[in-house]
Amino acid sequence: MVRIHSPRPFRPDIFATIPLRVELPAEKLNSSLMRAMFHTIAPRYDFITRVFSFGMDRRWKRTLIERAGLSGSPVILDLASGTGDFSLLAARQYPGARTIAADLTERMLLLARSRGVERAVCADAGRLPFSDAAFDCVCIGYGLRNFPDLALAVREIERVTRPGGLLVSLDFFLPANALLRRLYLGYLYAQGAFWGLLLHGRPRVYTYIPDSLKTFVSIPEFSRMLRRAGYGRVDARGFILGGIGLHWAVKEE
Ligand SMILES: C[S@@+](CC[C@H](N)C(=O)[O-])C[C@H]1O[C@@H](n2cnc3c(N)ncnc32)[C@H](O)[C@@H]1O
Repeated sequence: MVRIHSPRPFRPDIFATIPLRVELPAEKLNSSLMRAMFHTIAPRYDFITRVFSFGMDRRWKRTLIERAGLSGSPVILDLASGTGDFSLLAARQYPGARTIAADLTERMLLLARSRGVERAVCADAGRLPFSDAAFDCVCIGYGLRNFPDLALAVREIERVTRPGGLLVSLDFFLPANALLRRLYLGYLYAQGAFWGLLLHGRPRVYTYIPDSLKTFVSIPEFSRMLRRAGYGRVDARGFILGGIGLHWAVKEE
């Protein structure tokens, strides 16, 4: 049989892969800088989250928690909790739940407490101060991207989760399509610079978001990482054309 090779399809330049800078943002390499950045933005954090998510953040968070389908009186870790959205949502969704918020930045935890979060501890995702299998579920909202060693943090999360327990996460990701990726990064840089300058006189505090994204894994890569780490069943869902990813992963029994 003669196989006819058709010429390569024409791909205009706009679809070319954008060259992504590969250096890690300085804040990711230095926890003092990370803490200082989140200390600065903490009082405005809830407002800016709504702006960057086009007001859809609450819906994504509710979807994540509802679909977790926890039963009984689950013990839940809200990791990289910020002002404690997941602690509050989980307590509402699962009335018997015991939630613990953990974050690197004390000012975020103080705000979480002022919103009614009872248990809040200062902790680093790479070295969690909890015993093995302590939690039925670990929630991470926009946290993964900030961890300097993602694989180490996933191992820690897996360690503190009981067999059969859940990891659920919501984060920014880069869309798979190169054009969308470029537009998305451009949008995040423009929004970040504008709001950073307006609210804090420092564009960098929010242009960190697209910078941190450029060195982050994709939605399918993170799913694979979870499977390798011992999560047998992994579901993922993308929003805004793959710019936001939700993951649900069940630790093997
Ligand atoms: C973007 S906020 C997320 C807040 C909240 N989870 C939400 O869904 O809106 C990221 C949080 O991660 C925290 N963080 C950064 N690096 C961390 C680390 N290594 N361990 C624990 N928390 C960290 C920051 O202090 C910040 O409060």
